[in-house]
Amino acid sequence: MSFIVRNYHDSDLEPVVHLLEVTPGMASVFSIAECIVALRGGAPAVVAVHQDTVVGAALANASGSRAWVMRVAVTSTHRGEGVPSALLTHLEERLVNEGVATISYLLSQEEQMSEGLARAGYVRHEAAAYWEKREALTPGEATTLSALGGRVLSRDLWQRLAGMHEEKDIIDKRVVMPLSHPERAAAHGVLPPHAIVLFGPPGTGKTTFARAIASRLAWPFVEIFPSRLTSESGGLAQALHETFAMIDDLEKVLVFIDEVEEIASVREGFGKSPAHGVTNELLKIIPAFRQHDTRLLVCATNSVRTLDQAFLRPGRFDYVIPIGPPDATARAAIWESFVSRSSRADVAIAALVKASEHFTPADIEFASRSAAQASFEREMSSGDSVELVGASTQDYLHAIAQTRRTVSDVDIECLREDIDLFGRL
Ligand SMILES: Nc1ncnc2c1ncn2[C@@H]1O[C@H](COP(=O)(O)OP(=O)(O)OP(=O)(O)O)[C@@H](O)[C@H]1O
Ligand SMILES: [Mg+2]
Repeated sequence: MSFIVRNYHDSDLEPVVHLLEVTPGMASVFSIAECIVALRGGAPAVVAVHQDTVVGAALANASGSRAWVMRVAVTSTHRGEGVPSALLTHLEERLVNEGVATISYLLSQEEQMSEGLARAGYVRHEAAAYWEKREALTPGEATTLSALGGRVLSRDLWQRLAGMHEEKDIIDKRVVMPLSHPERAAAHGVLPPHAIVLFGPPGTGKTTFARAIASRLAWPFVEIFPSRLTSESGGLAQALHETFAMIDDLEKVLVFIDEVEEIASVREGFGKSPAHGVTNELLKIIPAFRQHDTRLLVCATNSVRTLDQAFLRPGRFDYVIPIGPPDATARAAIWESFVSRSSRADVAIAALVKASEHFTPADIEFASRSAAQASFEREMSSGDSVELVGASTQDYLHAIAQTRRTVSDVDIECLREDIDLFGRL
């Protein structure tokens, strides 16, 4: 059964209290009265909702850099569907971004949550079944991160990135593993990467990959938008310098620069344009940035061929990785992830995969949304309650036929050439 997790609103109080009352376990740790006081006082809380009904809730009591999970409750009808871990993930994301560094969860007795907590990185304190999770940020770092517009992302983005097994495998082995096991990598003489470039046509998932890498490493994610760089005291180069000076305060961080060709292309970057100074500044920044083993710079571009080759050279960027349109297996996984959002189980995924050759994930997302919308509108206008709710195979095929592909055959040919000329894995 599908459900969504969202922040708690005041109007959820009654159903949440009812849920806490009927859910057994944990009653002796935080009483219902304490939970109500916390909810009324604006404590961080999230709910899982299925068809407008609250089917799960989680709330915490936060003070300074420490938070206690007070309850994670799920109705008996939604057990075993991953609701508790989805609630906990959402709640944690909120807490971390509010400056919480340690999250504790005191269980009154051994129960099913234990396994899920261990998987989510909590450590069990034997004597008291006292569970604690140390988050990556100190309160000072949380302030810097928020000034940079950065975030600690939810921990499940890597799993949510559907398909793309080849790209995932390469990034996992070359980037994530050496960064998350530096001693083991060093024993083999493997140096962890400090900077990588992701290139490929629009909508293939470069930004999604960058976010997923940060999520996988549990490092904060900071995105720099070249077009939005401004400084009170100087030009763009100064703004970039100031931004990286702030980034220096973060012990661990993934810095993402999208559309890097705006500041490092052959014509603009190394010519006489205003971007020239920014390019030089970035070239100065990269060696200093590379001094730290717990930082990664990820640059993304749609047009790797316009980047200056001096910018791309090995001493600056360790890998130059193509992210192309998904192959059939990857498309199947991506279609599956969108189709499974409706409650219909008879969609012929294989037919959708065949019809959507060279579609990017973004194109698939768009077609999938159009099909879902068409099915929704049909039910609304017919007024009948339909037995099989959700878009049918025909709806999807129609939506695919109506969707304009982002990547043309010429683009695919260009990408092949780019991979030969610039790819470095
Ligand atoms: N593997 C995937 N599974 C599911 N959805 C995906 C996947 N990859 C990308 N998407 C979705 O496709 C859309 C486009 O992805 P994204 O923004 O990462 O592409 P991009 O390569 O950064 O595009 P651009 O070059 O335009 O910046 C997003 O909405 C993203 O959620
Ligand atoms: Mg992008």
